[in-house]
Formats: sequence, structure tokens, C-alpha cells
Amino acid sequence: MTAPVRVLVVDDKENILKLFEKILSEGYAVTTASDGARALSLLATGEFDVVVTDIRMPGAGGFEVLDAVKARSPSTEVVMMTGYATVGDAVRAMKLGAYDYLEKPFDPDAAALTVARAAERRRLRDEAASLRRELQGIHAFHNLVGKSGRMRDVYRLLEQAAGLDITVLLGGETGTGKELAARAIHHHSSRRERRFVAVNCGALPPDLVESELFGHARGAFTGASTARSGLFEEAEGGTIFLDEIGELPLPTQVKLNRVLQEREIRRVGDSAASKVDVRVVAATHRDLRAEVRAGRFREDLFYRLNVFPVRLPPLRERAEDVPLLAAHFLAKHARAMRREITGFDPEALRLLACSTWPGNVRELENAVERAVAIASGPVLLPRDLPVELSSAASVLPPGPVLAALPYREVLEQAQDRVSREYLVALLSEFQGNVTRAAARAGVERESLHRLLKRHGLRSDDFKPG
Ligand SMILES: Nc1ncnc2c1ncn2[C@@H]1O[C@H](COP(=O)(O)OP(=O)(O)OP(=O)(O)O)[C@@H](O)[C@H]1O
Ligand SMILES: [Mg+2]
Repeated sequence: MTAPVRVLVVDDKENILKLFEKILSEGYAVTTASDGARALSLLATGEFDVVVTDIRMPGAGGFEVLDAVKARSPSTEVVMMTGYATVGDAVRAMKLGAYDYLEKPFDPDAAALTVARAAERRRLRDEAASLRRELQGIHAFHNLVGKSGRMRDVYRLLEQAAGLDITVLLGGETGTGKELAARAIHHHSSRRERRFVAVNCGALPPDLVESELFGHARGAFTGASTARSGLFEEAEGGTIFLDEIGELPLPTQVKLNRVLQEREIRRVGDSAASKVDVRVVAATHRDLRAEVRAGRFREDLFYRLNVFPVRLPPLRERAEDVPLLAAHFLAKHARAMRREITGFDPEALRLLACSTWPGNVRELENAVERAVAIASGPVLLPRDLPVELSSAASVLPPGPVLAALPYREVLEQAQDRVSREYLVALLSEFQGNVTRAAARAGVERESLHRLLKRHGLRSDDFKPG
């Protein structure tokens, strides 16, 4: 059971108060006040989600009520009623922060709908505020965001590893945050004042990888006109992050194993060894045990690296982190692009939460960043998100949400989603060619255009290239 929506109705006409008590019977707790002064004293002591107030009343009027609400509880939504339908009053009320206004005489159903919308807006605002609070709270570790049990376990391990000054091996699919985790370890360790050197082992050409890592002597190979230090030496006293360690060529694996064992390096073409004091954090998206079995990874190096393994879980196994991450990326990119975007439409959030995210957090971040760039209003809508999300999401909301809806609304929602999914499939199949898509669907071209527009789809988005 969700808590009832608390509504305060203020009017000097008894029949209006009765009317709201009648139309807001289910799911609402209605309090009434027959004048502005009484409303002000109720506001001073009670909490309301929505306040519906007449503008013209003897004594304290609707604007005073509005002021009092916004001063005390800014997220409470206010609906104004006006008997004289002066547009000026309505505009002024909206400017002062009212959510909407009702012109007397009004249709009871329309009034109930306005109050329901105001209550929904209040709920979404509260939700956004609590997400922001969570972000500022304990649901993050260094730059990693997430509050799931899985991520809390990860934070605990990273913190332990940071304090121990041992070799750490980070595993996890692409985009799960391995690099962020490596930086978090460095920044929580006693080496934080020294350098963090990141090396992508997969991106170094095989014939240069050794001289990059360990440096080279003058004349060690053609082109080596001067002696050069390697990345291990540059990280002296700090941390070296060996990313994509599974891509290291076998001969280099042998050398690296010796460096880790002896804690000293030899520059390529140099016989003298020098001591290094560097903590190694390695990462790979591969299953290194399988690589060992396949003969592509040295077993001795594997055991030397696997001292303290930490696995970053895929996003689909911690869906509860999706809203938090989405809010985090929304804030980050809205700030960077200087766009006033405050949140997600509930359906957009549902699509994000339903997706399986094969590219994990990176993919989610890209989707949100793109949505922030193309959004036309203050909230991100389903149409701002990649089309694949809608086609992959289930047609129906989860059971408890479903059961709370009227039958007709469920049918409409389901039809809407099936229809959207169908259109996405159709347009993808015909690569955005509306004429051919309409012929296949058995509808007029114009109808198809109308349908696409209604769903916020653009045929151009399905054209190749
Ligand atoms: N828990 C998280 N909180 C906030 N941002 C995250 C999180 N995990 C990943 N990211 C972001 O997602 C992107 C990918 O993260 P990162 O580069 O650390 O992943 P990775 O595991 O190293 O991926 P790959 O294996 O593809 O290199 C980055 O932009 C990073 O900032
Ligand atoms: Mg990476």
C-alpha cells in the first residue's frame, strides 16, 4: 500500500470543498479549509503534497496561500482556482510557482486529473531529490557510483587492496569500471601522492612493448638514438596500471614475470638492472585461466598477478544501480553541455532499467550523454534514448505496478508499446524507407507518418550511414 496523497483544499464555498472530498475519495487524504487564514495555520503544522486554493477569498487570498506553501515546502504543488477567469491572475500564479489553474465552473473529472498530475509531479521531484541525496551519500567509492550489494562488496575489496600495497588483478566485462577501480585503489593507497601510470597493453605494437614498459639503452635497436626510461621507471613510487594484460605477447610476459619477481628492471639492450618500487594493478576482460589453458598466457605470471583478484560485476546483475548511474550521468553531462535537464520521464527510466547493457556502464553513459544532447525539453523522454532499448524492453510494467492500473489504461499502454516496437522493427527492416514500410504494413503512407510522429520516431534515424 502506498501512502495516500495529502491534499489541502481551500475555498470559502462549502460546495467546492464537498466536491473535492467527493472526487478525491480514493488514494487521497483530503483536508479542507474555508478561508485563507485557516489554510495558513494548517500549512504551518501539517505536510501536504498538493494544495488546491481559490484565488479570491475574504481575508487571506490564494496568493498568500501560494506564498506560504512555496516558502515552507517548495516541492508541494499548488493548483489555483479562479472564479472570474482572469487570465492575468492565472499567469501571475504560474509565475509565482503554481503548477496549474482551474477555471470555475470546472468539470469534476478534469479537476481530479489536474490534482493527480500535480501529485505525480511532486512524487517525481521527491524521487529525484532522494537520488541526489543518495549520490552524495555512501553510494560511491572514489569515482565509482553504485549502491547495490555487489558494488558494496567491490568497494570493500578495493579499500582492502588499497591498504595492502599488493598486486591486484581486476576482472570484468568491457565497460564495468576496471580503470576507475584501478584509479580508486591508487587514490586510497599510501602512494596517492606519486604517479598513476596507465598502460594499455593491447594498444602497444608488439615490437615496442618491451621498450615502452622497461625503457631502452642508446643504440638498443634502429631508431634508439638516445637512452629512454620506460613506464615502470616513470611510475616509480606510485602505481602502474597494466590494462588489457591478456594482450601482452608471450615473450613480454616472461620479462614482466621476472620484473615482478625480482622487483628490478633491465632496459632493453642494457645489462645492468635497477630496483623499482611500483605497485602493479592489472586488468583484463578475458578469462585468464582459460587463456592459460589455451597456452596464450603464462601460468607463472597468472599466479603472480592473481594475488588479490577483484571482479567488477556486469550492469545487468545489478539493475538497481541503473537509476542512480543514470542520474549521475545526467547531472554530469547536463553540466558539461550547460543544458537545464532535470530528470527522466518514468517510462524512459523504465526502459533504462529493463535493458541488458552488453556494453555495461560505458554504454549506459553513452546513451544518457546522447539523450542529454538531443533532448528538447527539461526531462529525458523514451524517444531521446537509443531505439534498441524500447524494442528490447518488456511490453508491460512489473506486476505490482500493473495491478494498480485501470484495465483500460493497461490496454492502451500495451497497445502503445507494441505499436512502437512494431514500428521500430518495421523501419529497421526497410531502413527508413516509409513507402516500402507502409506497403508491407498494409497502411497508407500518411498513416504511417502519423504513427511515427506520435511515437516520436524519425524515419531518418533508420537510414543506413
Ligand atoms: N561504477 C561506475 N560509476 C561511474 N562511472 C562508471 C562506473 N563504471 C564505469 N563507469 C564509466 O564507464 C566508462 C567505462 O569505464 P572503464 O573505462 O573504467 O571500464 P573498463 O572496465 O576499463 O572497460 P574496458 O574493458 O572496455 O576498458 C567510463 O567512462 C567510466 O567513467
Ligand atoms: Mg578499460
